[in-house]
Amino acid sequence: MTAEPLERSWGRHERYGRTAPLPDTPPLVLRTARESDLPELRRLDREVFREVAYPGFLLRQLWDMYAEHFLVLDDGAGRLRGYVLAATRTPALGPDSWILGLCVARDRRRGGLGRELMTEVLERLRRDGVERVRLTVEPANRAALLLYRSLGFSPEGPDAGLRRDYFGPGMDRRILRLDLTA
Ligand SMILES: CC(C)(COP(=O)(O)OP(=O)(O)OC[C@H]1O[C@@H](n2cnc3c(N)ncnc32)[C@H](O)[C@@H]1OP(=O)(O)O)[C@@H](O)C(=O)NCCC(=O)NCCS
Repeated sequence: MTAEPLERSWGRHERYGRTAPLPDTPPLVLRTARESDLPELRRLDREVFREVAYPGFLLRQLWDMYAEHFLVLDDGAGRLRGYVLAATRTPALGPDSWILGLCVARDRRRGGLGRELMTEVLERLRRDGVERVRLTVEPANRAALLLYRSLGFSPEGPDAGLRRDYFGPGMDRRILRLDLTA
């Protein structure tokens, strides 16, 4: 695969300082999502988020609107192994973004990929003039909470950012926020 300027290779060997890729794990490429990725994005989103996956039509329109900050991990063999999506308001309404999706395929977790996706999208948002980033997280999602806190996100508002019924009855969420100008 030809790398775009903003693409980067990411193999487990890099994270752990090995000198060669493991034979059974081809390096992943972190790149901007393409229109042709949409079927595979739908598959991955459903696999990870199940009943709260985005409907296909919405995923498509999110790509239509926010492709610059829609990043995927491509295994080069037809599969996407993770994605992150940030949606940004027009500057006139406040230069801020929301992370609307982050996931890594189950069999690729705990290898630094979630952190890599987040670090890259935050770098691009900062470069593009975004000043604040917010996201929601399920209060029991310890892995995501620890990841976000380690990246500098902190709870917004009282009760450690807890918003009861945020997505509807029984669907509480915590709101976290990161100031990119700090
Ligand atoms: C959250 C998620 C994206 C993390 O991806 P990942 O590639 O496994 O994460 P990383 O390997 O980059 O880990 C980064 C940090 O996250 C935290 N973390 C990740 N998985 C964890 C786990 N199972 N238990 C505890 N902490 C965890 C750790 O702080 C870790 O840092 P460390 O490796 O220095 O300890 C992944 O678990 C996922 O896709 N979950 C399902 C979807 C989801 O919950 N998305 C977030 C919605 S808000």
